[in-house]
Amino acid sequence: LASIDVDLAPVAVGQAITVTWRGKPVFIRHRTEKEITEAKEVNLGDLRDPQPDSARVTKPEWLVVIGICTHLGCVPLGQKPTDPKGDYDGYFCPCHGSHYDTSGRIRKGPAPANLPVPQYAFTGDTAIRLG
Ligand code: FES
Repeated sequence: LASIDVDLAPVAVGQAITVTWRGKPVFIRHRTEKEITEAKEVNLGDLRDPQPDSARVTKPEWLVVIGICTHLGCVPLGQKPTDPKGDYDGYFCPCHGSHYDTSGRIRKGPAPANLPVPQYAFTGDTAIRLG
C-alpha cells in the first residue's frame, strides 16, 4: 500500500495540518509545551483506553493520529484554530460528544478507544513518511 511523505517544516508550534492517507484523514499537530505537559501528566488509571503519551508519539512535539472517531466514524473537530477542542484540549467529536485529549486519547463521551496512531517514521528532523 502507498506511503506518503509529509513535510512538517511549515507547521508552526500550535498549528495542525490534515493529510489524507489511504483514504483517511490523518491529523498532525505541532504540540505546544502546554499540550505536551497535559498529555504527560495524565494518570493512566483515569483513562478508558490506558496508553502513556510516550507510546503514542515518536517525538513529543508531534502528534500524528488518524482523525476518525472510534465511536461511529465521524471526523472530530480540533484541527482548525476556531474549532472546539473539547474538555481536554485535543479533539471534540460533534456527532455524539466524544472528547479526546492532546494525545488523542478518549476522555469523555461514547467512543471506546483512543484515536489510532498510524504507522509512520521520521525521515528527517521535520519530515515523516506515513505507511
Ligand atoms: Fe464520534 Fe459518535 S462518532 S461520538
